[in-house]
Amino acid sequence: MQVIRAPDGQQYAQTCDCQIQVRVERALQRAGVPERYRDKSLQSFESAGKHPSLYAALMYARKFVDNYPFGMNGLGLLIVGSSGLGKTHLAAGILQELVIEKRVNGLFCDYHELLKRIQNSYNASVSSTELSILRPVFEAEVLVLDDLGATRPSDWVWDTVAHILNARYGRNQTTIITTNYPNEPSLTNRESNALGNAGRAMRGETLGDRIGDRMRSRLQEMCVVIEMQGEDRRERENRAQFRGV
Ligand SMILES: Nc1ncnc2c1ncn2[C@@H]1O[C@H](COP(=O)(O)OP(=O)(O)OP(=O)(O)O)[C@@H](O)[C@H]1O
Ligand SMILES: [Mg+2]
Repeated sequence: MQVIRAPDGQQYAQTCDCQIQVRVERALQRAGVPERYRDKSLQSFESAGKHPSLYAALMYARKFVDNYPFGMNGLGLLIVGSSGLGKTHLAAGILQELVIEKRVNGLFCDYHELLKRIQNSYNASVSSTELSILRPVFEAEVLVLDDLGATRPSDWVWDTVAHILNARYGRNQTTIITTNYPNEPSLTNRESNALGNAGRAMRGETLGDRIGDRMRSRLQEMCVVIEMQGEDRRERENRAQFRGV
């Protein structure tokens, strides 16, 4: 705290810059963005000369941060696209800017890791309980759920995803989701029969297949969909390294 004397002689206590910085640093640590993505920002997300959908995604992300919390009506983002397009980079960038600029209580969760931690909590030798793991997930003002659908579907997985998404939906909290799976429903029995085995294998899995159609449809209510397309950045960088570029 520092004491400010106003021109009328009154004194005010004001939080000084260094204290604000310490608080922001702590909030960033609590947000739990993985080391690899700590230095990722909207500024470092390149879109020039790339697929137009990347520019559109970046513009939307910018608008999302600038307008937060107004104008979004509690809506989050569902960032969809194949591997290496920068989905996690964008989500981590948005979350960190919200923590820094808007003092949001944010949390980053890797979907697969979160489900593993919950499963582990059933093991008697582990001290954490399911609720102690889920509480921060329920309470975060903005949650990033990275790589939704990455865990092989089962009844338990579907129930757990439903538990998390329904809790956040009920509280009108903002959730930012990334996924590799196309934002499409699962096949009806008729479609599945018509495709046959070969056709089904060619089609690949959708988000509906991985988290269930009910939860996929809930996400359309909770989020604005951002579709990203283009070239896998990791592959391109590996190729460049191999060529010594
Ligand atoms: N447009 C971009 N500008 C700058 N860096 C990028 C861009 N796209 C991807 N990258 C970088 O490429 C790497 C891979 O990106 P990222 O992990 O965000 O991809 P992803 O879409 O989440 O992939 P996956 O589906 O496999 O999780 C990261 O280091 C990221 O910072
Ligand atoms: Mg990712």
